[in-house]
This record gives sequence, C-alpha cells and structure tokens, in this order.
Amino acid sequence: MAPGFATDIRPLFRDEPDVKTMKRMGLDLSSYDDVKATAEGIYARLENGTMPCDGPWPKEQLALFKRWMDEGMAP
Ligand code: HEM
Repeated sequence: MAPGFATDIRPLFRDEPDVKTMKRMGLDLSSYDDVKATAEGIYARLENGTMPCDGPWPKEQLALFKRWMDEGMAP
C-alpha cells in the first residue's frame, strides 16, 4: 500500500523543533497541503542534510519520504 501523510509522514516531523521552527519560516510541516506543495524542496533539504538543522534523517526515513512522493503523496 502507498504511504500516506497522516499515518507515515507526519510522525517523521517532530513537533519541536521541526514543526515549531519551520512554522515561523512560513512552512507548516504538520499540514498535508504545505508538505505536498513543498515536497521537492523538503526532500532536497533532507537529502543534502541541511534540514533538520540538528542532524540528518536516517536513510530509512528519507526513503519513506521519497516513496511517499513517488507513489502519489496520499493524504
Ligand atoms: C524535518 C525537519 C525540517 C524540514 C523538512 C525543513 C525544511 C526546510 C525547507 C524546505 C526550508 C527552505 C524554505 C524555503 O525555501 O522557503 C527550510 C528553511 C529553514 N529551516 Fe527548516 N526544516 C526542518 C527543520 C528545521 C529545524 C529543526 C530548524 C532549526 C532548528 C530549521 C530551521 C530553518 C531555518 C533557519 C531556515 C531558513 C534558513 C535556511 O534556508 O537555511 N528547520 N527548512
């Protein structure tokens, strides 16, 4: 089954500091619409390790985000 935002992706973003900090930057990582609209940019940051700013995601998390994108970004 294709991964979904609510079940698989939202839990990857920590309420703090990820959601809280990025909300101040104008990107709501807890919002399906925001993450879907910015998915390429988010993935680029996750992949190059510049976000989150306190350490890169494990490769399993990165792969799950990529798969969510590739398989249609379900809600
Ligand atoms: C998984 C978690 C995170 C993701 C996916 C993420 C994603 C992003 C993205 C895509 C941008 C560029 C926004 C744009 O171009 O409009 C950005 C900018 C920024 N983020 Fe995050 N972020 C995350 C967590 C954090 C955390 C934890 C911090 C700070 C502790 C942080 C601080 C910033 C800052 C200061 C900027 C603006 C400056 C810059 O572009 O480097 N982010 N983030």
